[in-house]
Amino acid sequence: MTAPYDPGDREKVVAKLPAELRKELKVRAAEVDTDIQDAVTHGVEAWRKSKSRGRPLVDTTGGTSFATYLPTGLYDKLKRDCKARGISYNQGIAQSIRLWLNEHPSPRPTPQRVTGARRVIFGNQKGGVGKTSVSAGVAQALAESGRRTLLIDFDPQGHLTKQFGHPLIDINEPSLAKHMLGEVKDGALADLLVPIKGGDFEDHLWLLPACKDAFLLDAKLATSRFVRVKETALEKALEPLEHDFDFIVVDCPPSLGYSMDTAIYYCRTRDGESEGTSGIVIPVLSEDSSADAYDMLEEQIEDLTADLDVAISQLGFVVNMYDSRKGYVATSSLDEWKKVGEPPVLAVVPELKDQREAVRVKAPLLAHAPYCEQAEAMRSIARRISG
Ligand SMILES: Nc1ncnc2c1ncn2[C@@H]1O[C@H](COP(=O)(O)OP(=O)(O)OP(=O)(O)O)[C@@H](O)[C@H]1O
Ligand SMILES: [Mg+2]
Repeated sequence: MTAPYDPGDREKVVAKLPAELRKELKVRAAEVDTDIQDAVTHGVEAWRKSKSRGRPLVDTTGGTSFATYLPTGLYDKLKRDCKARGISYNQGIAQSIRLWLNEHPSPRPTPQRVTGARRVIFGNQKGGVGKTSVSAGVAQALAESGRRTLLIDFDPQGHLTKQFGHPLIDINEPSLAKHMLGEVKDGALADLLVPIKGGDFEDHLWLLPACKDAFLLDAKLATSRFVRVKETALEKALEPLEHDFDFIVVDCPPSLGYSMDTAIYYCRTRDGESEGTSGIVIPVLSEDSSADAYDMLEEQIEDLTADLDVAISQLGFVVNMYDSRKGYVATSSLDEWKKVGEPPVLAVVPELKDQREAVRVKAPLLAHAPYCEQAEAMRSIARRISG
């Protein structure tokens, strides 16, 4: 992936915009598959050209910081025009964004979905490759673009839950694993969801926290008396929630056990669903051991596909923590991932400090550093898998 801007010919611009306008911009940019900075650039250019000087004022009260990157020099030109038109710079940016929104209407309404939420799992039995960070970032980006998104911590280690500053579910309380195994007498799975607050994704993002009982899930699924429960358990448990969400994103554990089987089965292409609507995203590193790990995962997907006669879409790789300074091993390994072709490389995410900082302060990345390169990478992956 290229950097979201070339520092050589873009400059950072900060304006104060109301949350509603920022949100509308992010949603629309995602809908029409455009980078936010490109949308604002087009808006500013169109606004400068527009003859109607007395554009309706955009309400900018209660605005908070919004940063983007414009081609060098464009902001100075905008500022000159603002002075000439007797309005503030904030108002100039706000009107430019409003103009772009008006010229790029939403392609919605989308056809009614008949197959429940779109399901995207992030899996790789290799540990520490970025399943948790990328699934969390992509879920935030999906939510930011207006999709009701449920993020599931399906790893008994509970890293995702802890990163959001939530406690794990108590081992004696109802949990996803207990719902999957039919061990919950009272209460619905929906009772366990917690809203993730902050950022422009607020009100659209929910977390199903982890519980340590999931360490026993593989063993319990293995001994289940019911036919096919091993594969269908996750789907059965999540079915009642599906109509409340547009996307269900699953952060898988680093394993190839039955938990992984049930997650892979859950993201299969359902009857009536087109290929690539749901599926698996595979975060990898740019090194040889990642390629070996992928071979094993692919074998498991193929076995499951053949045994159960289902289709699984591999949506793509995310080559994470990429650092070209590591030399030939990194660059040649990246080439190998790109050469696979199908599935494609969805993004190359550099080794960056923002992710680790967000974890340290227990904040979602897109709230902690909404305009960092990694946040932009998450938005770009979200656009590719939701397009
Ligand atoms: N692009 C990145 N740049 C810098 N640090 C990163 C990046 N992506 C992930 N990390 C950090 O690397 C560590 C491992 O990432 P993460 O927990 O997402 O991997 P994982 O595959 O989910 O691991 P596990 O297999 O244990 O579940 C974390 O500390 C995370 O904050
Ligand atoms: Mg993880």
